Amino acid sequence: MKTIRIAIDGPSGAGKSTLAKRIARELGIIYLDTGAMYRAVALKAIRLGIDTRDRENVSRLMDDIDISVEYHDGTQRIYLDGEDVSSAIRTNEVSMGASNVSAFPEVRAKLVALQQEIARNNPVVMDGRDIGTKVLPDAGLKIFLTASVEERARRRFLELKEKGLLDKTFDELVAEIEERDRNDSTREHSPLKKAEDAVEIDSTGKSIDELVAMIMDMVRKRF
Ligand code: C5P
Repeated sequence: MKTIRIAIDGPSGAGKSTLAKRIARELGIIYLDTGAMYRAVALKAIRLGIDTRDRENVSRLMDDIDISVEYHDGTQRIYLDGEDVSSAIRTNEVSMGASNVSAFPEVRAKLVALQQEIARNNPVVMDGRDIGTKVLPDAGLKIFLTASVEERARRRFLELKEKGLLDKTFDELVAEIEERDRNDSTREHSPLKKAEDAVEIDSTGKSIDELVAMIMDMVRKRF
């Protein structure tokens, strides 16, 4: 049997992480949220007062940063220099910062190597922007998950509200998502792009159970 490696890519808020988590649980394998790693880099820069658009200073940070993941009851925790920052990375400021730092090849090189190392040792469901194109080009199943901007903003709105982190109006969230989409898909290095052999799924109006069932069906056929 082929080692299970599943890549789930797509724009912010399409539901990648919820779906990836569920699929990993169904299969009893680990889930790696690669966005959390870019967020951890952004958090470190912000805490040090470094502008997340400042390539030189952000790149220098990469020489002395320790990012790692651990799993507790199947849930990923992310550590920055030994500190659990799983909650601290979920603010809007960090979201925008992550989108900025992820444009720098020095940042990507280090994080991609770390992601590939984790996949070398474990069957995995990985979510991100460049998993199917760059991190796991040989993944046995690649999904490109999309959803309308409004639907993604609605989900983000509810998520932030639930966490007590809501500091934006719905329209501001729409504008922010559009900006992140633009950043992520027009950058020079590893832009968000559907891999040629990825299956595109539009999650607008679909329940998570429906999406899980669709993908588990593909998993059974491919592995
Ligand atoms: O997925 P999430 O929204 O947490 O990712 C935060 C940011 O990190 C994204 O906007 C994107 O710019 C960047 N990212 C990336 N490549 C990945 C995962 C995330 O460039 N594999």
